[in-house]
Amino acid sequence: MAAAGPVVASIVGARPQFIKAAVVSRALAAAGIREFLVHTGQHYDYGMSDLFFRELEIPEPRLNLAVGSGSHGRQTAAMLEALEEVFVEMHPALALVYGDTNSTLAAALAAVKLHIEVAHVEAGLRSFNMRMPEEINRILSDKISSLLLCPCQTAVDNLAREGVTDGVHLSGDVMYDAALFYAGRAPGIDQTCAAEPGEGNFYLATVHRAENTDDASRLGGIIQGLEGLPYPVLLPLHPRTGKRLEELGIHPSGALRLVEPVGYLEMVALQRAARVILTDSGGMQKEALFHSTPCVTLRDETEWVETVEAGWNILTGADPEKIASAVGRFESAPPVTVCRPYGDGHAGRRIASLVKAHLDDRSGRG
Ligand code: UD1
Ligand code: UDP
Repeated sequence: MAAAGPVVASIVGARPQFIKAAVVSRALAAAGIREFLVHTGQHYDYGMSDLFFRELEIPEPRLNLAVGSGSHGRQTAAMLEALEEVFVEMHPALALVYGDTNSTLAAALAAVKLHIEVAHVEAGLRSFNMRMPEEINRILSDKISSLLLCPCQTAVDNLAREGVTDGVHLSGDVMYDAALFYAGRAPGIDQTCAAEPGEGNFYLATVHRAENTDDASRLGGIIQGLEGLPYPVLLPLHPRTGKRLEELGIHPSGALRLVEPVGYLEMVALQRAARVILTDSGGMQKEALFHSTPCVTLRDETEWVETVEAGWNILTGADPEKIASAVGRFESAPPVTVCRPYGDGHAGRRIASLVKAHLDDRSGRG
């Protein structure tokens, strides 16, 4: 029988949240904290969800709300309604939410309205672009969280500028923990979709942000930029982007090779073996730095400013000429600085201690 004591509800729904939860769930278990994991069902394809649970050995979610895809309002509302029921039934002591997706906001909002405290992993990030759905999700989730677990000093400073200092902790980034923990389990490059062209002979790309996929001219610019690069470009295709390319009748050619989304371990192997990573993903920008692979970010701004300041990341937006020139810069002068702004690889452990201290303090207060 499980030990008695407060229960933490962890809510996940999208690919990067599974990776973050893999680290935190392990740390919570090691600290003797009881957790129940809820999957909202925001991501549901095998290669976007189950594959991660299997290969990262994440505990089976207690519940899958199977909310699926939809417009922002519809998807967030369905999650809110379902999560409210879950929280009323389970009455957890704390809701643990991750990152900046619709699952994050719905969970934080459902919890706080029931007077369940919220802990936000990856608090304090800002792009300062309110047209991004993620920026809205982050700002609102931070606003209603009691424990704000920041991956880097920039995030702490962003919150301080907004007048938020209570409950703010510099925990480090659980994505760095994941990169270190799983590094030894990544397959050899010959076991991946890059077996041909082989180690060091390709660029790796991912594209999925709404600002790029929902704007035909931006998506066209990115595809054109990738097609024109001097080595093959492997692009594990997010289903959102696949659907848009189909709608727009875009059939990539030139250097660009579309492949199915890959699991995290295969992704680590690809990230290490690529000449340059080109991406609009938040997680991939940092992983490029963790694995010392230069990164070209296909956005106009980034939350992860340290990667740019250290010389490992260049922002190009969706302009094909800027993409070509950034890759050319890295090809002729690869970055050399060593930069570790995202903690020491023990963010998960620190988060578990902070959660435990918070719960103890709360029960002490009665
Ligand atoms: C979501 C997050 C984004 C995060 C990303 C991680 C929001 C607003 N956005 O974006 O912050 O970076 O996850 O990958 O929460 N689809 C499938 N199968 C799936 C999942 C999605 O086909 O398993 C397709 C559907 O057509 C869906 C579209 O992808 O409408 C977008 O999915 P959604 O979860 O709404 O947003 P993402 O772009 O994945
Ligand atoms: N990722 C993966 N397979 C893929 C694409 C991404 O395992 O085909 C991993 C990537 O290494 C990173 C995380 O998913 O750890 C990032 O997720 P995504 O880019 O979907 O979301 P974001 O970080 O932008 O929110």
